[in-house]
Amino acid sequence: MLRQATALAHPNIALAKYWGKVPGSDNAPAVPSLSVTLAGMATTTTVIFDEGLAHDLFELNGASADEPSRQRVVALLDEVRSEANLSLRARVHSRNDFPTAAGLASSASGFAALAVAARAAAGLPSDPAWESHLARRVSASSARSLFGGYVELPAGEEGQQRFLPAKPVAPPGALPLRVLVAVTTERTKETLSTRGMNHTAQTSPYYRAWVEHAHRLFARIRAAVLAGDLEALGVAAEESALAMHASAIAAAPGVIYWLGVTVEILATVREMRSSGLGAWFTIDAGPHVKVLCAPADEARVKKVLEAIPGVLRVLIASPGEGARRVDGALL
Ligand code: ADP
Ligand code: DP6
Repeated sequence: MLRQATALAHPNIALAKYWGKVPGSDNAPAVPSLSVTLAGMATTTTVIFDEGLAHDLFELNGASADEPSRQRVVALLDEVRSEANLSLRARVHSRNDFPTAAGLASSASGFAALAVAARAAAGLPSDPAWESHLARRVSASSARSLFGGYVELPAGEEGQQRFLPAKPVAPPGALPLRVLVAVTTERTKETLSTRGMNHTAQTSPYYRAWVEHAHRLFARIRAAVLAGDLEALGVAAEESALAMHASAIAAAPGVIYWLGVTVEILATVREMRSSGLGAWFTIDAGPHVKVLCAPADEARVKKVLEAIPGVLRVLIASPGEGARRVDGALL
């Protein structure tokens, strides 16, 4: 007997960053975060429950995935199996149409697509909030990709294991926004986000200040989205990214995700602003820079970014929809 389903999800980029977990929790974030889901990049995942299998198989981008990646997939499948009272093992085929493990949030779209495809293949009804909660326990940022547009993930509470999904804040059209991703290297990152944030929490003297400040930044960013104010959003998003990286850089030893070209891009974005062009940056756990601007300025901003030595290419994304089932299958 075969039971299968396919889902598609987009990565998301945090405007208010998540960095740090509630100690002892089921991967609950220590700070609230707010992201925008990005159409233009996608993960497609097919899950096939198959009685002929002795254990779960996970193929990513056409090759067998490494064991830690497979284990994270198994963790989510186990949750779905227990919910559906199913004992079958699964074959999971997934494809990212953008670089994997490079700071472009492949884990976010990956676990969101997996949560939707696995529950559908197990015969469970669609439930984005529950799928978001399940995805969050494997990788917190992926909880936000279940929903489209602007999405928040509240902070968890100490000593409490509870239902904690992301929730939509505003639809994709709430702000006139483009996100330009200046790609700076083809290499995968050396310090994965989980390790980077745990090390920051354990050793950075700035971590507590980050957690306190992150709550204030989140409130400003949420208000800017609801007001449709791109400039207020851009300014606060830059502050969030820089405060998160400052906490990581101050860890011992410091976690530095930036390359020389990363800093060049930051300076160039600030120059664009001084010359009257509205552009703001944000950076995740990697060296690439994501630049926010209005759709009308997209071509000009792209041209300036492409001219920076060391920028390999510029990807363009706009606010998109949440994770969903699609027809067809990856086999
Ligand atoms: P990124 O910046 O791309 O999110 P991370 O290091 O946070 O990088 O996550 C990369 C990891 O996410 C991969 O090593 C793999 O374990 C997992 N991952 C990436 N793509 C998928 C996918 N499509 N399905 C399931 N897991 C994925
Ligand atoms: C810098 O969600 O990858 O992208 O929950 O440990 O899997 P885990 O971490 P992850 O961290 C994302 C960190 C970030 C900021 C963000 O997306 O909010």
